[in-house]
Amino acid sequence: MSLFRTKSVEVILAESEDTTHHLKRTLGPVNLVALGIGAIIGAGLFSLTGIVAADNAGPAVVLSFVVAAVGCAFAGMCYSEFATMIPIAGSAYTYAYATMGELLAWIIGWDLVLEYAVGAATVSVSWSSYVVRLLHRFSIDLPSNLTHCPWDIPAGWINLPAIFVIFGISILLMIGISESARVNAVIVIIKVTIVIIVIAIGFSYIKPENYTPFIPPNTGKFGEFGFSGVMRAAAVIFFAYIGFDAVSTAAQEAKKPKRDMPIGIIGSLIICTILYVLFAHVLTGMVSYRTFRGDAAPVETVIKLFPNAWLQIAINVGIVAGFTSVILVMLLGQSRVFYSMSRDGLLPAIFSDVHPKWRTPWRCNLIFMVFVSLFSGFLPISSLGNMTSIGTLLAFVIVSIAVMVMRRTHPDLPRPYRTPLVPLVPILAILVCFAMMVSLDVLTWYRLVVWLAIGLAIYFGYSRYHSHLVKAEASAKQ
Ligand code: ALA
Repeated sequence: MSLFRTKSVEVILAESEDTTHHLKRTLGPVNLVALGIGAIIGAGLFSLTGIVAADNAGPAVVLSFVVAAVGCAFAGMCYSEFATMIPIAGSAYTYAYATMGELLAWIIGWDLVLEYAVGAATVSVSWSSYVVRLLHRFSIDLPSNLTHCPWDIPAGWINLPAIFVIFGISILLMIGISESARVNAVIVIIKVTIVIIVIAIGFSYIKPENYTPFIPPNTGKFGEFGFSGVMRAAAVIFFAYIGFDAVSTAAQEAKKPKRDMPIGIIGSLIICTILYVLFAHVLTGMVSYRTFRGDAAPVETVIKLFPNAWLQIAINVGIVAGFTSVILVMLLGQSRVFYSMSRDGLLPAIFSDVHPKWRTPWRCNLIFMVFVSLFSGFLPISSLGNMTSIGTLLAFVIVSIAVMVMRRTHPDLPRPYRTPLVPLVPILAILVCFAMMVSLDVLTWYRLVVWLAIGLAIYFGYSRYHSHLVKAEASAKQ
């Protein structure tokens, strides 16, 4: 049936030839791990850790970090197989097109907007919280109405700093400044140093009484402490790990993909998990987890205990700088996915219109600049983060299914990296990711369903009739 028509892997690879043949294989294992860490550490750690400790898990947020890491590790191995088999820009969208057909590919491409565009909005809100606190140190106080959205406590009108950073980075992307490995390396060093400093200094400020109760008793509501709280916190904090799939998109530039892809993905995950667990342990040990309610800048709250004012400022500046690489990677990923979908005819040509001089899909960047700013300016960080988490978890589930499908339909295709123990690993990835999805709140599920329904309406109203695959099939029949 036409909804399940697939794009052949041979065609996908041939199409990518002209754009990718000049990519050099220069990245070794250390570069790949650094690439992952640069995209991973961001708002999840520096904002959501405090929020989920206060609302869902208490000091047991450390367990939530471990659960989320396990789901990511299984899914990461599935991503790696695809990334080395079909190493081109569209990521999970392209993988799905080759395996499970156009409709699912469309769904996943549409769903990735939640990961990338809404994810960028989430990080921009966190950026805004830290910038506001930083400016406050220098006695510059922006009006509260202009730095909070209508759903925040205290309520405001619009979050202008969050919109500002989205505009700034979108413009950079339009004129063609993509992240260079060197800039990334510097940002990674800054971020990891900050995390280590907070852990090292914070340890001496821990008050053991803050750890009791370790898992606060459930309040009677699903997701508010107790076991369900730990699971909900895992699903929300899952956001903190998003970005390791950036490693898989660099598969073509890896010197030895077979060996280095898993090292890049699993290595960056392991390092981040260790840092995250220690960081969360210190944060919830320094002050009571209740302190963090509604606080999108928990690090700022705890470092006030440190004696050196300059150190506090340096940490704050570093965090703000570190967010930029995450937002950049996400907005870049978004434009790549929509570019690929537009090239396949599933979206209007405007999304793949490349600027003659800048050589970037600038109109696509421009449209997302407006779209993402609406989210950044008017929605709170927790809703945005939850939407990103559920969208990305869904993408992970689909990719894990696709690995099993592909092993049956294309058993002989060269796979420089093979997911171990198929079907066990993909099945575990599906189970853990799905368990996190069902732990999220009902409102997030409603939003996902509405988002997918809008996507389906566009597919059946537009994409289906404009798909290049249909046109190619039709002309082949004539
Ligand atoms: N993992 C990224 C962050 O936490 C998306 O900001």
